Amino acid sequence: MIAIGSDHGGYALKQEIMKHLTERNIEYKDFGCYEESSCDYPVYAKLVAREVAEGRSERGILICGTGIGISISANKVPGIRAALCTDCFCAEATRQHNDANVLCLGGRVVGAGLALKIVDTFLDTPFSEDERHIRRIQQIEQ
Ligand code: RB5
Repeated sequence: MIAIGSDHGGYALKQEIMKHLTERNIEYKDFGCYEESSCDYPVYAKLVAREVAEGRSERGILICGTGIGISISANKVPGIRAALCTDCFCAEATRQHNDANVLCLGGRVVGAGLALKIVDTFLDTPFSEDERHIRRIQQIEQ
């Protein structure tokens, strides 16, 4: 299960991503926002981050205008490793190295074509399980 959320700046891209997840037969829960009027990104960041941190969803996807505010907010929730990605290299690396559990995107930064490739890379790349990466992830929590 994927938890997905956005503010108004990420609303349009979120619609594209949900359509793409449906086409891939990947189940998701949409935590809002549900329309394009102005709203506050921390609200949706916290809803999705808690859903992932508490184990009800395996991964999260969060989108705001830049991806920055929503990633800062999500990373305040213990156990969340939210990664703002603007390319597939970072999406692959953050899964392999950081075991990132939330992908953040900027709806005003990346186009839908690139964003969907980033989403696929993030969802399809496993954690490396390398000892050095496990050690570093543990150090994040200390
Ligand atoms: C909203 O205007 C914008 O500030 C928000 O979507 C995001 O980019 C914040 O980091």
